[in-house]
Order: sequence, then structure tokens, then C-alpha cells
Amino acid sequence: MRDYHEFLAEILISEKQLNRRIGDLGRQISKDYQDSTNLVLVCILRGGVMFLTDLMRQITVPHAIEFMAVESYGAGNRESSGQIRISHDLNTDIFDRDVILVEDIIDSGRTLNSVLELLCARKPKSIEVCTLLDKFDRREVEVPVKYVGFIIPNEFVFGYGLDLDDLYRNLPFVGVVDEEKYRAG
Ligand code: IMP
Ligand code: MG
Repeated sequence: MRDYHEFLAEILISEKQLNRRIGDLGRQISKDYQDSTNLVLVCILRGGVMFLTDLMRQITVPHAIEFMAVESYGAGNRESSGQIRISHDLNTDIFDRDVILVEDIIDSGRTLNSVLELLCARKPKSIEVCTLLDKFDRREVEVPVKYVGFIIPNEFVFGYGLDLDDLYRNLPFVGVVDEEKYRAG
């Protein structure tokens, strides 16, 4: 297995920066949902897992968590088509509940757009999106995002839940891939 140092171009967001920003987001969400009686955080597997577990510890309002896994078809491993298939659905009904969708990154916006359509059809009381990273310049589909950790440039990133061909999700920071070095290995 290759050491990530071989193809890490730079650390884009350090562990310290992540902690600080996630603290901010947790406080903001706790304030916005202080009167909510049935908040549920819906995490999109697998990239959002690390963000979810850190974020939920910063949220002081009682809440449930749920997971959803989606596969997008017909795309390479650096792009999504937006046509999704649910490979794991929620275990509870979100009807009349306050939902926050927790995502790792929004790129074209296609995945999120499809997930939102799907969940809105189940008539939650409210639904908002909280993403750690936003590659704003890449947006092809308009999606309403209420909480954003960091707006990042158009570069492929990995670590802190985000994978590089399924690996390196465990790294505690968000790093940029040096594609040339990565491909050469
Ligand atoms: P979208 O449908 O184009 O917005 O793609 C969103 C999904 O693509 C994310 O949930 C990630 O799984 C993946 N993705 C997009 N950009 C990156 C990246 O830079 N690193 C790792 N995964 C990414
Ligand atoms: Mg993802």
C-alpha cells in the first residue's frame, strides 16, 4: 500500500482548521434548531462519516442520526452522473421531521440534487444541507446549501472521509492530490 506522502501536493485544510470550523457549524446548527423536537442528521455514506461524527459532538440539541448510501452510475471515479441508485435507505420515516443532510463535498451538485428530490418527496417538516466542502466553481446544478464548512478550489481532495480510489479516508486532514505523481505510482 502506498504512503500518501508520495502524492500529497499539499494539506489544504489542517486538523486544527477542521476542528475550529466544525465547532462553528455545530454552534450555528444548535442555535438554529434549539426549538426543534425531532431533528435528524442524515449522513450520505461513506464520505460524510467522519464529518458527521465530529459535527454531532458539537451539536447540543438532541437529535437522531440516519445513514443513506447512494451509487451514481455511468461516471468515472472522478465525476458523478447524477443518476443515483439507493443502495442503503434510511431506517426511519422522515415525515414531518427536521432533516439536515450531512455531506462531505459538493462538486457538480448532481448527487445532492437527486438525494434532495428523493427525500423531499417524503415530506419532511424541513430539510437543509450541511456540507464540509464546496467546490463552488464546479457547480452544474443549483442546490440550496445552508451550511458550508469551506469553499475549496477545483482540485481533487482526499482525507477526512474523502477517498482516493477507496483509500485514505482515515487521514485527519483534507489534502490535495498530485495527480501526476499519483498516476505514476
Ligand atoms: P457531485 O454529484 O458532482 O456533486 O459529486 C459529489 C460526490 O463526488 C461527493 O459526494 C464525493 O463522493 C465525490 N467527490 C467529488 N469531488 C471529490 C474530491 O475532490 N474528492 C473525493 N471525492 C469527491
Ligand atoms: Mg460522497
